[in-house]
Amino acid sequence: MPAADIKARPAEQGPLVSVTGLSKHFPVRGGAWGAPPRLVRAVENVDLTVDPGQVLGVVGESGSGKSTVGRLLLRLIEPTTGKVVFDGQDLGALDPGELRRFRRHMQMIFQDPFASLNARMTVGEALVEPLRLHRQLSGRAAEEEAAELLKKVGLSPDHLKRYPRAFSGGQRQRIAIARALASSPRFIVADEPVSALDVSVQADVLNLMQNLQQELGLAVLFISHDLSVVEVITDRVMVLYLGRVMEVADTEDLYDNPAHPYTAALLQAAPGYAGGSRQVLGGEIPSPIAPPSGCVFRTRCPFALPECAQTVPALREVGTGHLKACIRDDIAL
Ligand SMILES: Nc1ncnc2c1ncn2[C@@H]1O[C@H](COP(=O)(O)OP(=O)(O)O)[C@@H](O)[C@H]1O
Ligand code: SF4
Ligand SMILES: [Mg+2]
Repeated sequence: MPAADIKARPAEQGPLVSVTGLSKHFPVRGGAWGAPPRLVRAVENVDLTVDPGQVLGVVGESGSGKSTVGRLLLRLIEPTTGKVVFDGQDLGALDPGELRRFRRHMQMIFQDPFASLNARMTVGEALVEPLRLHRQLSGRAAEEEAAELLKKVGLSPDHLKRYPRAFSGGQRQRIAIARALASSPRFIVADEPVSALDVSVQADVLNLMQNLQQELGLAVLFISHDLSVVEVITDRVMVLYLGRVMEVADTEDLYDNPAHPYTAALLQAAPGYAGGSRQVLGGEIPSPIAPPSGCVFRTRCPFALPECAQTVPALREVGTGHLKACIRDDIAL
């Protein structure tokens, strides 16, 4: 893809993606027969921004709302409350047709490349489809561009006529990346893009993503539960717990000086950090149907005080560009 297709914007123009007050509550069947549906509070009052060319990581245990945030940002699902603005455009104000056309700017890479590619389409067909839809390329021009895309992701144009089943997991994820890039997007949500791959090919696919991100100046929301992967690939990290933001900081700052007890616990539990102490975070994640009052982390927090149950801690600045949602400043992590 020619790099000129991506509109480069100077950083002073502000964030590419800007999210305020984002919540998603999923109705689920009530306990008793005839009872009103209860709500899974998957995402609660999230604010975030992604600058052009920035890679924002989203970390947190399984069920913390990472995928839901990604899907909300691309408007694959409707928010319960809150606003997503992309390059000045409020996505909630677009009608379905406008949203479909707008999709060229924002694409998703899923965890499972086996599920995200259509088994009945050749690789060529899978790449030509977005080229035709979003870039009005057809015939020879589309085929040439599809071949270029394959080369970009480290595959051979000879592969265009083959079906996804002919490829390994790593190769399929490369094809999914090529397809996501076909519309010349400016923003990518990558949801655990290497978690389903063999450990031996994870680094290659991550390297590829990092190179493409830099070459194309892409903004990326990089979702992962793997802290070592996130440390390598992101500029800034947001830590989610039960759908709430616990901490946000530049990557190096977050890993060197975690300010929230949950972040510190995640780092301690991860292999290779905190001297490899591998302390496992105790206790169960509470149900998002009935989250704890006040600070949602309080039922597992070793530093919890009675007042932690009273009010939801505000996300406040504790260093330059470093925010945490915890009332205590007197704890050593
Ligand atoms: N469509 C849905 N209906 C009901 N609950 C959902 C739905 N999607 C996600 N959830 C719930 O929302 C919470 C957050 O899920 P998810 O965003 O997938 O978390 P993560 O990606 O961090 O593992 C979980 O409790 C999950 O069960
Ligand atoms: S607000 Fe209280 S419970 Fe929550 S993280 Fe801080 S100390 Fe722990
Ligand atoms: Mg997920």
